[in-house]
Amino acid sequence: MLQTSISQQTGFAHLSDLPCLKLQYGTASAVISLYGAQVLSYQPTAENEVLWLSPKAQWHNQQAIRGGVPVCWPWFGPASAMFNPQNISLPNHGLVRTKLWQVGSQQSSAAGVSVTLTIAVDDLPYFQGSAKLQLCVTLNDSLTLTLSCDSVMPQQAALHSYFAVNNLSSALVRPLPASYHDKVRDVVVDNGSAVATFNAETDRIYHQSAAQLWLEQAEQLLSLCQRGHDATVVWNPWQEKSSKMSDLQLDSYQQFVCVETAHLTTDNQALTLSQQLKRT
Ligand code: BG6
Repeated sequence: MLQTSISQQTGFAHLSDLPCLKLQYGTASAVISLYGAQVLSYQPTAENEVLWLSPKAQWHNQQAIRGGVPVCWPWFGPASAMFNPQNISLPNHGLVRTKLWQVGSQQSSAAGVSVTLTIAVDDLPYFQGSAKLQLCVTLNDSLTLTLSCDSVMPQQAALHSYFAVNNLSSALVRPLPASYHDKVRDVVVDNGSAVATFNAETDRIYHQSAAQLWLEQAEQLLSLCQRGHDATVVWNPWQEKSSKMSDLQLDSYQQFVCVETAHLTTDNQALTLSQQLKRT
């Protein structure tokens, strides 16, 4: 008989006082931090971790947790003038990575275990009123994250997943559009290749990316299905940038790649953005 459960736990890895929820579906499990509504662990089978969490990640003093699946909203990267009309100091990647979310509905059945976390954000610098954001996390033979906000307004978002890799030089992401915005050099590149590999600092925006991508590494294949997106961001800071980030170790960049499902257009609209992960 399939065992399913949703339980509260305090602490995950070295973050010993972090309030979390643990989902269990047979031998699969996931851990979600209420701070940032950030999935920190996804194990399709016991001891078989898909995500990466920095050993130097912190969550106090308004710091965003480095690793897992950070939720970026309502802007991606630095806040542009549209999101920051008063030109004040605002955090990278929006406001919700460093807020505590509430636990909403929970469901547990043979079809899957799911929990919805919610947050009402009333300190948006460009929008009067309160916007309600929710993240639904469902665990069964895959892990699905769905971020939604019904308010019609400019809103960017990303599910900024950090994936554990055991050999960065053999990791690749495909199929991607041949053309991308290279944020490292701030140029548009068209290299005729549908594959991203990692041998230098990588920070790329692939617009209009496919609904299904693969993260391949030696003897491991991860399917990443995305919906509601208009771009995929592929990021690895490499050594020099890592050395300047207080929550990464010098060799951390060899242990992860980020493949981020993103909605980057800034039209007035509601948001539904999802990412589904499955090891095959
Ligand atoms: C990526 C961006 O999404 O996130 C990078 O493309 C950025 O430019 C990276 O450096 C990490 O951002 P942060 O705010 O978590 O340090």
